[in-house]
Amino acid sequence: MGYALPMRNYDIIIVGAGHGGAQAAIYLRQWGFTGSIALIGDEPELPYERPPLSKDYLAGDKSFERILIRPAAFWQERAITLLPSTRIAALDPAAKTMTSADGQAFTYGTMIWATGGTPKRLGCPGEGLAGVHVVRNRTEVDAMTAELPSVRNVVVIGGGYIGLEAAAVLRKFGKAVTLVEAQNRVLSRVAGEPISRFYEAEHRAQGVDIRLNSGVAAIEGENWVTGVRLSDGILLPAEIVIVGIGIDAATAPLQAAGLASANGVDVDAFCRTSDPFIYAIGDCAAHENAFAGGQRLRVESVQNAHDQASCAVKAILGQPEPYRAMPWFWSNQYDLKLQTVGLSVGYDETVLRGDPDSRSFSLIYLRQGRVVALDCVNATRDYVQGRKLVEAGATIDPDRLADTSMPLKEML
Ligand code: NAI
Repeated sequence: MGYALPMRNYDIIIVGAGHGGAQAAIYLRQWGFTGSIALIGDEPELPYERPPLSKDYLAGDKSFERILIRPAAFWQERAITLLPSTRIAALDPAAKTMTSADGQAFTYGTMIWATGGTPKRLGCPGEGLAGVHVVRNRTEVDAMTAELPSVRNVVVIGGGYIGLEAAAVLRKFGKAVTLVEAQNRVLSRVAGEPISRFYEAEHRAQGVDIRLNSGVAAIEGENWVTGVRLSDGILLPAEIVIVGIGIDAATAPLQAAGLASANGVDVDAFCRTSDPFIYAIGDCAAHENAFAGGQRLRVESVQNAHDQASCAVKAILGQPEPYRAMPWFWSNQYDLKLQTVGLSVGYDETVLRGDPDSRSFSLIYLRQGRVVALDCVNATRDYVQGRKLVEAGATIDPDRLADTSMPLKEML
């Protein structure tokens, strides 16, 4: 004898209440959609901004209220149903239904998948010990913040944005910080070597002990972490460990439903998956990016989440426009503001513009002679003006690009 599950029906269900999902709901109402909308998230709180988690929120300079994407009243006034603490575990695209891990069932007219990424795991012994943290959500950061006062030694594993930004904040708190990076330079996924060497030197000057080319064999401790054992046998003492070794696209239910690809979920120029009623946006959406020479990839950034939300919503509202948003990123560490425009993937030449010793310079990336990206350190003018060069795919002599006496805007 069976019984029917109570099934809740929404015209549009957005799965994932991060930047992309929240922004999709905002655009839907802003652009006149009057049907029902549910925004489902697996975290307990209102949608909030994630970048401050490894910057001002971790530093205690911004309260949680200040990083909310919108206040609670906003969602109520616009009749956007927030379903927090709800993790979608399975979908049936043919029936347009989905179920959550705790057994709730939903049907949708259209779905937007915006679940972002899940922190990669080290896969070594001790990873589950108390005191080992990732920096991906508010709960994690709050737990770590509560532990910090009694901590002296921190080991940060991973020299990407998370690791470096967290290291900068922890140095400000006076902690002894050791950063362990598997590659021969930090920021290797996102930046060219001069940027890596610059940040490496800055962090060392600030007292961070950086260990490059280092593998982690185990995290040690009984109940609480006491140290990190490197592959070469060295034991680094630690009362807290932060793991920031990248993310995997959070697409398991799509995968099980036959929609995902090897790297996230493939979408077309309108953020549509292979199912006409399912869109995917943000960190998890593998799209052909015009700024990467048409290469299919995932872009992990707030910009991409926002702009793909716009792209998907326009398509849903019957005004499709292909995705062609300029990628940009930023990172704050100490008094350094890194601003990136464009995508450097596949670059074959770099031009250094300015002197890293002055702590204000840019690295310009070229692909087959064309400007494809800039990393600008305390050089906002280059960032603003360089954007136009990337937009135009400008071909400019490297000697001119390096000439700081000439503004980039005069090179087009
Ligand atoms: P990431 O992919 O940027 O960097 C991971 C780093 O860990 C790489 O340098 C990699 O070589 C290293 N690594 C990988 N496995 C390792 C291992 N077993 N041992 C030691 N090192 C290892 O990822 P991250 O920093 O975790 O950031 C996660 C996500 O959050 C990314 O999407 C990132 O873009 C985003 N994020 C962006 C920020 C920004 O734009 N300013 C700030 C914070 C996070």
